[in-house]
Amino acid sequence: MTDNINYQYIVDYIVNTIPQSSGFLKELEEYADERFIPIIQREVKGFLATLLEYKRPRRILEVGSAIGYSSIFFSQFLKEGGEIITLEKDEKYAAIARDNIKKAGKENIIHLIEGPAEETITTVEGKLDMVFLDANKSQYRHYFDVIFPNLNPGGIIICDNILYKGMTANDALLPRKHYAIVKHIRDFLDFLCRHEELTTSIIPIGDGMSLSVKKGDI
Ligand SMILES: C[S@@+](CC[C@H](N)C(=O)[O-])C[C@H]1O[C@@H](n2cnc3c(N)ncnc32)[C@H](O)[C@@H]1O
Repeated sequence: MTDNINYQYIVDYIVNTIPQSSGFLKELEEYADERFIPIIQREVKGFLATLLEYKRPRRILEVGSAIGYSSIFFSQFLKEGGEIITLEKDEKYAAIARDNIKKAGKENIIHLIEGPAEETITTVEGKLDMVFLDANKSQYRHYFDVIFPNLNPGGIIICDNILYKGMTANDALLPRKHYAIVKHIRDFLDFLCRHEELTTSIIPIGDGMSLSVKKGDI
């Protein structure tokens, strides 16, 4: 099984076109790399920067904070007065993320809710412009069902790692132990792609991401 859904030379080429991070974000990238903490890949970050520059959301919900890297990165693209709510179940990561959010001076903008997102997501109130699902894939449908009514028209839902090292697209890559999770992902993607109120694309970048836009007048 390959670890990468794209040829390495393609990834390297794309990554080399993206401006290098500096300052605290660079420090966090090094911290995550040294400890094998899975934060968004560089090419995914580059793509999301383009999307966020266009979208300029006011309220973002993220599921899966880890050390706070993606939240801190997203926060530079928020509209004035905007907010990010990020959900993390791991106590240790939540503490590190809170600390990093504070060090980045974003504690008034990024609000972390600790606990299993299956439960905490039901406490998130108010309209959302962007949802980033980057945690336990088996629950993506549940997360979707809870947040969709609160997503504004023109709002976007991004799900990371949905091609799952290629296994989602090719049974020949799929060992038995991953059957259940891949079935969840396939069913969820099928649901997103057929949803009448969404336009969805599957993008083969990083480990694969889906990008869905809610239809309707903005
Ligand atoms: C891939 S990491 C998130 C990386 C982060 N979004 C970034 O790019 O900087 C996934 C995170 O989801 C968290 N997670 C997994 N299951 C969860 C759940 N049920 N509720 C909340 N967080 C969960 C994990 O503890 C882990 O920190």
